[in-house]
Amino acid sequence: MSSMDLCIIGSGYVGLVSGACFAEVGHKVVCVDNDPKKVAALQSGRIPIYEPGLEDIVHRNVSAGRLRFTDKIEDGVDNSQVVFIAVPTPPQPDGSVDLSFIEKVAREIAGVLKEYRVVVDKSTVPVKTGEKVAETIKRYNRAGAEFDVVSNPEFLREGCAVADLMKPDRVVIGSASDRALALMKKVYEPFMAPILVTDINSAELIKHAANSFLALKISYINAVSAICDASGADIEKVADGIGADKRIGRSFLNAGLGYGGSCFPKDIAAFIAISDALGVPFTLLKEVQRINKDQKERFLKGLRDALWVLRDKKIAVWGLTFKPDTDDVRSSVAIEIVNDLVKEGAIVTAYDPKGMEKAVEWKMVEGARLVHSALEAVEGAEALVLATEWGEFANVDLQEVKKRMMTPMIFDGRNLFDPATMKDLGFAYKCIGRSTV
Ligand code: UDX
Repeated sequence: MSSMDLCIIGSGYVGLVSGACFAEVGHKVVCVDNDPKKVAALQSGRIPIYEPGLEDIVHRNVSAGRLRFTDKIEDGVDNSQVVFIAVPTPPQPDGSVDLSFIEKVAREIAGVLKEYRVVVDKSTVPVKTGEKVAETIKRYNRAGAEFDVVSNPEFLREGCAVADLMKPDRVVIGSASDRALALMKKVYEPFMAPILVTDINSAELIKHAANSFLALKISYINAVSAICDASGADIEKVADGIGADKRIGRSFLNAGLGYGGSCFPKDIAAFIAISDALGVPFTLLKEVQRINKDQKERFLKGLRDALWVLRDKKIAVWGLTFKPDTDDVRSSVAIEIVNDLVKEGAIVTAYDPKGMEKAVEWKMVEGARLVHSALEAVEGAEALVLATEWGEFANVDLQEVKKRMMTPMIFDGRNLFDPATMKDLGFAYKCIGRSTV
């Protein structure tokens, strides 16, 4: 297997983890970012995000001389055969995708392009963006250098991004050029993963369609959980029964507070906007969004029904991140719940194993008191809300929790505990779609 020279533009979650994993399999990688502070931090060995296993891989590959960081795009493009674009594609107020970072990077690449390069879009982009990137590079490349544009969407999940990248279910490569495809196959050869070759438009569409389908699965099971609550059926049993059918599968059928994070809410809104713009509105996805929002509202209603008035109630919240094993608090339902409770006048104490630093830095939970342990959070609390299913919470000493609370009442938004055990322990316990006590 031959090593290749690669450049990744954008050192966020996708760019940094991809760069590190490409280096780990033997390629020579230069990661480019336009934030000199971030580049300086990375050069001095500091990793700006928490992602299990990432720090080790970065340090190992920097020491081995296979991974380096720069803020100069020319350095990256000059020294690489393949240039990956992994910059943010944030949502605009109407849900459509802001492609200005992609456009800017395309212009910058064009400005320094001297000889043939494969330019790969790894960021999540609307179908037909590849065409725009190619037009832009062509327009701004005064040297007239040859290039090909390829789409190679990334499917990594935060929290297990390294594992997802090292052992992907599939690698999607959308290309119109055999020359570019041959190079892309060499990039992915060491991963020994199934490679699906498509045209560029299909590759772009696969990413939005995949994330929307996963969100649909979550909203589906959450809608069923509402029916379980109303009928006394048990959502865990129902999900097991549905998921045992190989055509459906058990994963992404965990009922809870709904999906959050930096991808699903944005990608579903984007897919709706894309389909609208193409004149074929995908209205099913609006229902997916509605169910997701309702799920949190239903949960809060349960809290109000049980506590009567939330004003001045001492409520502990466990979890701030959008899911466990990440420090990411973007579009987190847990954060929304903290803010909703504060707005209603509750006295909120919150704890998260990894998410508190970012929540404070980004001023996301003003009005709540953040503490340093799960037990400290429940001290004197009249109710505990479990908003993120961290392993640490599953292993907590529940007797101690009960002792510290003023009234032992738990609202489990992620179905982490077993209702019968909680009853035996003497908790008033409410969860999602399961008979409660
Ligand atoms: C997702 C996709 O899985 C990934 O392929 C894509 O590249 C980026 O978006 P990520 O945002 O890291 O990854 O999180 P994921 O593990 O998919 O979870 C998303 C949200 O769905 C979380 O808020 C999670 O709590 C929720 N979820 C997930 C459920 O509520 N129930 C489930 O059964 C699964």
